[in-house]
Amino acid sequence: MAAPVMDEYLVEPRTAWVRRIRDEIILPRREHAANLPITRAIREGRATPAEIVERALIPTLWRICRFPELIAALASRCPTHDWERKTSLLHNAFEEAEHPFLLARCIRALGGDPDPVLRGDPDAYRPSTEQLARRDWMTYIVYHRPWIEGVAAVQVAVEAIVPYAHKPQWDGLREHYGLSDDDLAWFAIHAGEVEMRHGNEGILILEQYVADDDLALQHRLRYIIDYVTSPWLAGAATAGSYS
Ligand SMILES: [Fe+2]
Ligand SMILES: [Fe+2]
Repeated sequence: MAAPVMDEYLVEPRTAWVRRIRDEIILPRREHAANLPITRAIREGRATPAEIVERALIPTLWRICRFPELIAALASRCPTHDWERKTSLLHNAFEEAEHPFLLARCIRALGGDPDPVLRGDPDAYRPSTEQLARRDWMTYIVYHRPWIEGVAAVQVAVEAIVPYAHKPQWDGLREHYGLSDDDLAWFAIHAGEVEMRHGNEGILILEQYVADDDLALQHRLRYIIDYVTSPWLAGAATAGSYS
């Protein structure tokens, strides 16, 4: 496998059970994520702009249109008196509302049209049955299961991996496709410090809220993180599962 994609950005877990989740799930799967065929092709300048739009950016845009409301739900379900976490999640949710529009800039710069997806046009993008099921499952976890399960599904399983997954795309788009910082604003956030903070916050919340001897809950959260990140496993991570 290639050299490390970027310097380590994840916090060092305090507990053995979270360390195992990092070592056995997050680290190997983010490596797969950074080496998806479409991501490698972007990094090396081999993908056409149309392929990048169709195989990477439009599927991502379709998925992240749900993110503002998912983060807002996590904020609203955060324990009432945990002001620090609640404030941070509300802030994230507000920022998140702009992210689909930032990614839309990149799609336009590559000659694509993000507007049908932004409008929710049902013909704009045709997700696979698995993609739809996974999106609905994520929505169910965040809205209907205990708050900590939503934190594991979104902040740990997605946000802790996203910087690593998107860094090669960011580098490739800048180097080979002539995109400006303005076109790449979505990548600066999601392969940069903002998303690193979101993922690390998720890890810290797990360690703050799950008792060291609550093995049943630890097992449940590990299952959730394993399930959400499983498309990254070799072979299953086709374009559009995650990008
Ligand atoms: Fe975002
Ligand atoms: Fe985020």
